[in-house]
Amino acid sequence: MMLRNALILLLTTLFCGMAAAQDVSVPTIDRSATGGAQTLSDIMARQKALKIDDTFRKDAIGNPDGGASTTEPLGVRGGQSDSEVWRAIRYNEAQAIASNTGFAADVLIQSSGIAWLKFRRGPLAEYGAWLLGGMLLLLAVFYLLRGRIRIDGAWSGRKILRFTSIERFGHWLIAGSFILLAITGLISLFGRMALIPLMGKDAFAAIAAISKLIHDSVAWAFMLGLVMLILLWTFQNLPNRHDLVWLAKGGGMFTKGVHPPARKFNAGQKLIFWGVVVFGLSISISGISLLIPFELPLFAKTFAFANATGIPQALGFGVLPEIMPPHQEMQLAQAWHAIIAFLFIAMILAHIYIGTLGMEGAFEAMGDGEVDEQWAREHHGLWMAEVEAQKRQPTSDATKE
Ligand code: HEM
Repeated sequence: MMLRNALILLLTTLFCGMAAAQDVSVPTIDRSATGGAQTLSDIMARQKALKIDDTFRKDAIGNPDGGASTTEPLGVRGGQSDSEVWRAIRYNEAQAIASNTGFAADVLIQSSGIAWLKFRRGPLAEYGAWLLGGMLLLLAVFYLLRGRIRIDGAWSGRKILRFTSIERFGHWLIAGSFILLAITGLISLFGRMALIPLMGKDAFAAIAAISKLIHDSVAWAFMLGLVMLILLWTFQNLPNRHDLVWLAKGGGMFTKGVHPPARKFNAGQKLIFWGVVVFGLSISISGISLLIPFELPLFAKTFAFANATGIPQALGFGVLPEIMPPHQEMQLAQAWHAIIAFLFIAMILAHIYIGTLGMEGAFEAMGDGEVDEQWAREHHGLWMAEVEAQKRQPTSDATKE
């Protein structure tokens, strides 16, 4: 329940932020010169993605049944002018019938698509690139200042099992699929901007098609890996009192010779684990919604739930939209999927760094599953003590008998 509320808060804050970014107050527009119709100032404000009160045209859609009948003197064909018909179409109020009976086929104009397109090409790509670039820079600076974290004692030469083959299979299933998903996802977001100028449209078209195929299929392997990790590791990642000590000492990451006690997973690893769970579930659910367009709309329902908690109103964002056109649902799902993907990739970059270059002896744990006893004693002292106690158990039992 707490997790669900936290997710909703995060989601609400991010989307209210997106909406609020556009909600710059616009001076009241004088429409007397156009007899109440839209003016150049309205058009300019919309082009700047400013939020304007457009009830003046939203509600001006005539009355289809209101005109005098064609059988009467001066009768007309319905009570709507052409402009009113087009406005009704724009605001999804027209009773449109399309020959294509598929989902959302009768939505002919959808204004919020422009805001989404601008967000996708603008802030999403820009801040996303800064986040990933910033994380790489941070890791490079950390490496230059701290160097590779080595063990303080001497290697013992004795190995103990840290991860079983099933744990390693689950890990590499999610890791391999995540890397493929991250690369193909970034290609689809940045391809037009970054790859077309480099390789031309034809080559990019082939790469984009292959990327999409890989992205849509490998997603299932990622979800399977995620379920495996949740089943295998949740218990060992529940917080305990040692985590606070570990966090207070910065995990000993910044100071040589400091080794706060930890069981199988330390507090830093627990944060990574729960990050994988929360981001992984969120990216999977929004991904499925995108894979089967219009069939699994999530946002209107989530916003209705969020409104009922009162959180958006308390944060000053007002009541969130609970009814939205199907395309807008898909646009929000895409934006959410991509925002989570950037946060997730940034987190995993740090994880990959510490699992390879950043810490001596870490990779072996996931490589062949075994680590040196001295490594285990320094980085996971409590876990090492538990393993040693278990090893002694059969002998002491035998002595008793
Ligand atoms: C090349 C990519 C990767 C490498 C080299 C790598 C390496 C490692 C290593 C060495 C460990 C064990 C640490 C220990 O013994 O204490 C580990 C654990 C773990 N990995 Fe990865 N990993 C990679 C990618 C990923 C990805 C993509 C995910 C999830 C999307 C992931 C999720 C986890 C989790 C949840 C753990 C347990 C918690 C932790 O140790 O942080 N890994 N990984």
